[in-house]
Amino acid sequence: MNPFIFGEVVKNASFIDRKAELETIAKDLLDGQKVFLIAPRRYGKTSLLIAAAEKLKAKGVKVIYLDLFKTASLEQFAAALGKAAAEMRKLGFAEAVNFIKDFVSGLRPQFSVNPDGSLSLGVDASPPQKEVFQMIENLLAYPQEFAVREKKPVVVMFDEFQEIVSIGGEPLEKLMRAVIQKQRNVGYVFCGSKKTMMNEMVSKKSRAFFGIGPVTHLEKIPPEYFEKYLAGNFAKGGFDCPKETLRSIVSSAGCIPYYIQYLAHELWDLKAEEKKITGADVERAVALIAKRNTPLYQNLWENLPQTQKRLLQGVAANPGAAIFSGAFITRFQLRSSALVKKSLSLLISKDIIEKEAADYVFTDHWMGVWVRQNCS
Ligand SMILES: Nc1ncnc2c1ncn2[C@@H]1O[C@H](COP(=O)(O)OP(=O)(O)O)[C@@H](O)[C@H]1O
Ligand SMILES: [Mg+2]
Repeated sequence: MNPFIFGEVVKNASFIDRKAELETIAKDLLDGQKVFLIAPRRYGKTSLLIAAAEKLKAKGVKVIYLDLFKTASLEQFAAALGKAAAEMRKLGFAEAVNFIKDFVSGLRPQFSVNPDGSLSLGVDASPPQKEVFQMIENLLAYPQEFAVREKKPVVVMFDEFQEIVSIGGEPLEKLMRAVIQKQRNVGYVFCGSKKTMMNEMVSKKSRAFFGIGPVTHLEKIPPEYFEKYLAGNFAKGGFDCPKETLRSIVSSAGCIPYYIQYLAHELWDLKAEEKKITGADVERAVALIAKRNTPLYQNLWENLPQTQKRLLQGVAANPGAAIFSGAFITRFQLRSSALVKKSLSLLISKDIIEKEAADYVFTDHWMGVWVRQNCS
């Protein structure tokens, strides 16, 4: 079976490196710290959170995990907090229903049972904002009450936390800060992928979460770790894959965990018969993956104005180039650095480009490949 996993949380043998990060985050959370964890998408944030959760659970900590991509309104956010509180108490179905009803009565919660027996919760009403805020305030207080009553440390994990801004805006941020900062016995992690947005939340004086706790930027996993991991798995599968090919898998994937696993998965399937992987195969696999996503990329591309297209051509052709330099501006007919700046910020707001260290890169690594191959 193909051992390379992408697009879902990785655990155990598929989860590599991250030892120091795991130690630190688990320790900080156990100490009741409020931690910000920031990295672009697909670097392995969620996997790290889940690994930390398991480590903490093994130490008897009560862990709550909430993915804010799943809560598309203030009411749904309140309902999710209600459900988490019910789960903390390990209530039976009927008790859980009553418990949640008490907490979020104004939402007229709708219950259903998932195939795995877990409880699914929808909301049926939009009570006045003031009431929803009151519910959220009560629910946010719950982990601390639980920790004190049960004499058990509690950890709350908010994944995709940048979404809080569109869920409830400044009033919600303020409310959360006010309640959470007093909770001595509860560790919180606020994990998010929109770097600029997350950084502003915690580093700007005017923002509610300013200075709430340590800020960790999750970096890429060092290439050596991945090369070793790839080598091990390919060898187990009886593949012949020389060192320089391993290196080129990692670099062709931008050294980003998700894309490395994706590319390795592709190569495994592509060469399942022949069991020999060369540099040419890596190129072919990359091209195949990019081609597969053509409908998506084409649609994005077609809707862009010319200047933004030229800027993307430049970034795709010269990863890491100094895009504000005269040479770059001339070569890609961008007229002035002011125009580069404007186009760049539009591409960032469309989520096509993002900043990575000092460079600007494609948010979707394969789209960069596609642009290079099809649009220049
Ligand atoms: N520690 C790791 N070891 C190996 N692969 C990883 C690791 N972390 C992430 N990945 C790869 O990246 C993918 C995305 O991981 P995920 O944790 O969902 O990232 P994020 O939450 O930052 O978007 C995983 O499916 C896996 O392919
Ligand atoms: Mg994630």
